[in-house]
Amino acid sequence: MQAPNPKQNDDELNALAGKTLGNFRIDEPIGSGGMATVFKALQLTLGRYVAIKVLPSRYAREPNFVKRFKQEAHIVAQLVHPNILPIYDFGEQDNITYIVMEYVEGGTLKERLARPLSTSEAADFMIQAAEGLGCAHTQEKVIVHRDVKPANMLLRKGNFLLLSDFGIAKILEGTANLTRAGVGIGTPQYMSPEQGTGSTVDPRSDIYSLGIVFFHCLAGRVPFTGDTPLSITLKHLNEPLPVEMLRAKGVPAPIEQVILKMTAKRAEDRYQTTNELIEALAAALATAQIALPQRWRPNSSAPMQKIDAPAPNISGPMLPAPSYPQPVFNPNQQSAVTISCFRCGASNPSTRLFCTTCGYELADRRAVADHFLGPNGRPVLARLTIRDNAMNSRSYRFHQDITTIGRTSGNDLVISGRTVSRQHARLWFDSGRWILEDLHSANGTRVNNALLNQPVVLKDGDVVNFGDEVVVFNTTY
Ligand SMILES: Nc1ncnc2c1ncn2[C@@H]1O[C@H](COP(=O)(O)OP(=O)(O)OP(=O)(O)O)[C@@H](O)[C@H]1O
Ligand SMILES: [Mg+2]
Repeated sequence: MQAPNPKQNDDELNALAGKTLGNFRIDEPIGSGGMATVFKALQLTLGRYVAIKVLPSRYAREPNFVKRFKQEAHIVAQLVHPNILPIYDFGEQDNITYIVMEYVEGGTLKERLARPLSTSEAADFMIQAAEGLGCAHTQEKVIVHRDVKPANMLLRKGNFLLLSDFGIAKILEGTANLTRAGVGIGTPQYMSPEQGTGSTVDPRSDIYSLGIVFFHCLAGRVPFTGDTPLSITLKHLNEPLPVEMLRAKGVPAPIEQVILKMTAKRAEDRYQTTNELIEALAAALATAQIALPQRWRPNSSAPMQKIDAPAPNISGPMLPAPSYPQPVFNPNQQSAVTISCFRCGASNPSTRLFCTTCGYELADRRAVADHFLGPNGRPVLARLTIRDNAMNSRSYRFHQDITTIGRTSGNDLVISGRTVSRQHARLWFDSGRWILEDLHSANGTRVNNALLNQPVVLKDGDVVNFGDEVVVFNTTY
C-alpha cells in the first residue's frame, strides 16, 4: 500500500508513544508501512506485549470508515489458522483507529530476504503462506488477502510464517480520501494483472502475488520494477516472467515451472486453489530431490528426510527409516489374524483398514516420517497419555510428523471436553526435540502450569493442560 505523504502523520503518531489506547499502553514504534504505524504495546489487563497497528486520523474522519472497518475486522478475526496472525482486538479513540494483534518478534520475510534463502527454505515459507491463504479462501464468504508480500509475512521463532494484514487492503479500498489522491491499494511489485488494472480479484490473485514472492525469495529481487506503479503494472500485464534470473541462481526446473504457473497472466492458467499449488510444489520438490526443512506439514506428500542438527540431548545415529511390520490385506482371506494399532495399541482384525478404537490407519504409513533413532536404534516417538477425571488413562503414540490435538474428529489426538478447542494445539518433531504449540485455543495450553505463548520444547514427563484436560508427555522408542 502506498500513501501520498506518510510524513504528514508523523507528529500525530509520534505523540502516541507512552499514551494509553483503551487497554493498551503504547510502547515504541516497530515499523511503518504506507498506511499505518505499528507499535509495540503492553496489554495492561493481561500483562503481555501486543502489536498495535494505528491508522492515521484522516481515515477515521472518512464517513462510514469506522463502520466498514469494524465489519471487515470482524470477518478477518474469524480466521483461525496457525499461519494467520491473530487479531486480538479493534478500537477507536480520539479519531484514532487501531487493530491489536499478536506481537511477533522475528521480523518479516522482507527483512529475512536481505540474506539469500535456499530453495528448501523458500518452499517451506511458500507452503506455510499457501496454507494460511487457503484457510481464508475456503471460508463461506471467501476472503482474498489482496496484499500478499514479504512485508506482510511475519516470522516467529523456528521459521513459522504468519500472514498479516488480511483484508486490510479491502477495508481501505474505496476510502474516498485515498481514491481522491489517486492512490492505488496493494503493492504493485506483487500485484496480479487483474488487481493492477482494477478488475475483480479472487483467490487466484493471491496465488499470483505469492508466486511473485516465491520468485523474489529465489532470484533475490522482484521480477518487474519501474519508476511508477503504472509502469510496474504494465510489466505484470505484458512482460514474460524473467525466468533467466531464476536459472542464474540455479533454481531447479520443476520449481521454476511451479513459479511460472503461479504467475500466469490469466487467472485460469494458474493453480486454481492453494491446495493444488501445495500439491504441485510438494511434487516439484520431490522431483528435484529437495527436502523441506524438517518440520511439520500435515498430510504432506513432500519429502522430509533431512535433519540438519540433531539436538544434543538425544544421541543416536541418523539412519534411513526402519521398516515396520506392515499388515497385508488380502480380501479373500478372512482369517482372524490380529494386528495391534500403532497409535493406541488396540487389537484389530487384519481385515480392517482402520483401528476400530482410535480410527488410526492400521497400515501405519505415517511411520515413514521416523528418521531419528534413539540410543536403542529404534525411532524416537511421542507418547501422550490422557488422564481423565476418574484418573483413568488412555495412551497414544505418535510419529515424527505433525500431531494435531483438538476436540473434533480430524485431529490426530481427539480430546473431548468443553475447554478444548476444535484445533487446540500441535506437536511435532524437529532435530531431535518434540515441540508443542498452542493454536490460539480459547482456554490455552499449559506445560507444567506455564501458559504457552510460543512453541516450547517438551521434556519427558511434562504435564500438559489443553484447557482443563490433563495429558502427560513422554518420549518412547
Ligand atoms: N504483529 C506484528 N508484530 C511485530 N511486528 C509487526 C507486526 N505487524 C507489523 N509489524 C512490523 O511493522 C512494520 C509495518 O507494518 P505495516 O503493515 O504497517 O506496513 P507494511 O506491511 O510494511 O506495508 P503496508 O502498509 O503496505 O502494509 C512491518 O514491516 C513489520 O516490521
Ligand atoms: Mg503490513
